[in-house]
Amino acid sequence: MTQTAYRAQLLTFREDPAHAADGAVYEADGLLIVEDGKVVAAGAYASIRDRLSPDATVQTMRDKLIVPGFIDSHIHYPQTDMIASPAPGLLPWLNTYTFPTERGFENPAVARETASFFIDELLACGTTTALVYCTVHKQSADAFFTESEARNLRMVAGKVLMDRNCPEFLRDTAQSGYDDSAELIARWHGRGRQHYALTPRFAPTSTEAQLEACGALAQKHQDVFIQSHVAENTDEIKWVESLFPGHRSYLDIYDHYNLLRRRAVYGHCIYLDERDRQRMAETGAVASHCPTSNLFLGSGLFDFEKAGESNMPVALATDVGGGTSFSMLQTMNEAHKVARLTGHHLTATRMFWLATTGAAQVLELDDKIGTLKPGSEADFVVLDPNATPLLARRMARTESLEELLFAFALLGDDRAVFETYAAGKRVHARESRRTAKLEMAA
Ligand code: GUN
Ligand code: ZN
Repeated sequence: MTQTAYRAQLLTFREDPAHAADGAVYEADGLLIVEDGKVVAAGAYASIRDRLSPDATVQTMRDKLIVPGFIDSHIHYPQTDMIASPAPGLLPWLNTYTFPTERGFENPAVARETASFFIDELLACGTTTALVYCTVHKQSADAFFTESEARNLRMVAGKVLMDRNCPEFLRDTAQSGYDDSAELIARWHGRGRQHYALTPRFAPTSTEAQLEACGALAQKHQDVFIQSHVAENTDEIKWVESLFPGHRSYLDIYDHYNLLRRRAVYGHCIYLDERDRQRMAETGAVASHCPTSNLFLGSGLFDFEKAGESNMPVALATDVGGGTSFSMLQTMNEAHKVARLTGHHLTATRMFWLATTGAAQVLELDDKIGTLKPGSEADFVVLDPNATPLLARRMARTESLEELLFAFALLGDDRAVFETYAAGKRVHARESRRTAKLEMAA
């Protein structure tokens, strides 16, 4: 295979910038060499240009910044069409918009078409890996994985488990949920770049029998992911207390059913107490912080300070359609403000870590994605500091890496994503998507 190389600014991480001042590595004149879908080398142009093979193609884009592909640790693909639906809080939003919308995914054609648009949108925002909720219908998971596999993306997804407290048309049973999940694991988990996630929606919509069955399946498949929601909203928490009396906390319910472990990812984690955070840290379960969703639904403020003190693993997420943007840059923007409201200063450098290498580490995918290490899969984003007139003006005055990344996070969105690559192949080009849209409109 011939090499393709990209001469641009490069951002990678050697460790969490919260723990090491030199955690971020920035090359003003960098080179990324890719061959066969994998990174051959990445670093200063002057030091690695001798690694270029004589027939390598070198694309020069020195005004652009290459970063590892973004990782969105919690998103619902069936909620694409109901993003920005108004409701006074989580539970009415679920009943009014979410459940009726998810009903449509019984139809494989709806699922396929939505999965395709959803993936286009992720890639347009520079997100190359996401932890994705499908609906209760197993065909919704088949449709998502089929689309992801066709584009050779590393994705994690699962059919929702839900056997009570939702409309009849969205219910499975403890047995059918177990059987369908087992069938989907057999079909998709470890096939190419696909991973399965056992997906009990949240404790209120599963019976004890279903959580028990899910825990049993998780024990059988130690390397599958688990994803759910916890401690998002005060009304939800009261409801959970009435449904599961006798548990120390909401999180304790998942603990009881053996659903806390590495590769278990819990959306929101706003109202955890100290003991809960310790359990997350001890078990390696990951808190997925979804700031645009938490602000939109008025759910509450995630506490970065306490998360850091307890060493609870954390990643960032959009939570579309509760979240209001597919963009991890816009997610950083809101994460910064949520942190400010709790008295914490969350740097842009740390937010880029949390959306790339940090997420890959806590998800145990860092041998494959989230870095530009030699041998890793070439999933990366090319960011454009001149994407909009305002961004260009602000960028012209930035005086440090932190200021540059901060401007991307606060002012950037899909317009700032010039190109996106997955396994070395270009899977999004901003200009061709714009042109395609114009052609469709004409
Ligand atoms: N809790 C249970 N289901 C959902 C969902 O779809 N979105 C959000 N934000 N919270 C949930
Ligand atoms: Zn969610």
